[in-house]
Amino acid sequence: MSVAAVTQLEAAALREIRQVQTPEALELLRVKYLGHKGDLTLILRGLKDLDPELRRQVGREANQAKAALETALAQALAALKAAARRAAAAEIDVTLPGRRPPLGRLHPITRTMQEICDIFLHLGFEAVEGPEVELDWYNFEALNLPPDHPARDMQDTFYFSDQVLLRTHTSPMQIRTMEQRRPPVRIIAPGRVYRRDSDLTHTPMFHQVEGLLVDKGITFADLKGTLTTFVHQMFGPEIGVRFRPSYFPFTEPSAEVDIECVICRGEGCRVCKVTGWLEILGSGMVHPAVFEAVGYDPEEFTGFAFGLGVERVAMLKYGIDDLRLFFDNDLRFLRQF
Ligand code: DAH
Repeated sequence: MSVAAVTQLEAAALREIRQVQTPEALELLRVKYLGHKGDLTLILRGLKDLDPELRRQVGREANQAKAALETALAQALAALKAAARRAAAAEIDVTLPGRRPPLGRLHPITRTMQEICDIFLHLGFEAVEGPEVELDWYNFEALNLPPDHPARDMQDTFYFSDQVLLRTHTSPMQIRTMEQRRPPVRIIAPGRVYRRDSDLTHTPMFHQVEGLLVDKGITFADLKGTLTTFVHQMFGPEIGVRFRPSYFPFTEPSAEVDIECVICRGEGCRVCKVTGWLEILGSGMVHPAVFEAVGYDPEEFTGFAFGLGVERVAMLKYGIDDLRLFFDNDLRFLRQF
């Protein structure tokens, strides 16, 4: 036995330890060198048979080798365990439940619009749509609002030119429809409208649903019955309705429809300005001048029309007291619908 042999054995063992890939293989190496019958163990055990001088030299070398192997084994084991932990963390667990993609939902204005339309569709009305960029003829002139008519002051209009504008209401769809069809006409026209108005209770863009029914023998009783049915389906059968005389150039007679305040139930509160009533739509019997503009004979046909503000209906239906919430697109608000 020689010092060189021990040194060689140590070098060979260290090389093997460096190449090991699993804790099990590492254990086999430990047994091979340091186990009960391991190579180094046998050398240490054989020391007693050596000459005293050689025993001292080999003994020192063998003990150093043993310490070095033990350290190398411990480090290799720690490194293998760390690698195993990293691998486990990176592994994909196919048994985990999937993540749901966030569901979108309908904006309260869209929902309210659909609810309004649904009610009228079930009453036999058909929905039609038309342009938001409109001609003066459809928005004003054919609706019995000639250029110098003072009623044009009721609406502040966005003009592109003399004749082209953003529609200020959905009423032009009455004209567009009647120009193309003969009675009976039974339509609603939902859509965006624009006015030069912007404050706490007005936005430059808002939504309306227009309605028009024309046939032989239509009376104000049909108007009252239809709109009362609408209010009761929209807000509940117990809600009071009243028809209040009003003025619109395109209807005669005209009426605004109020519903009992849904907040205070007619007691009087801030929302209804202590009147107990809330205005929700304008309506009336189609003016003969409007029929003449589209070539209908006012002696043969009569009809009623109405226009309602969707934001207003949505606020009352859902108890929303700030118009701006509809346009801020704050998800905390929108997620409630
Ligand atoms: N166009 C009116 C507005 O925007 C609302 C309206 C009133 C429409 C009476 C109608 C109607 O069809 O008959 O204020």
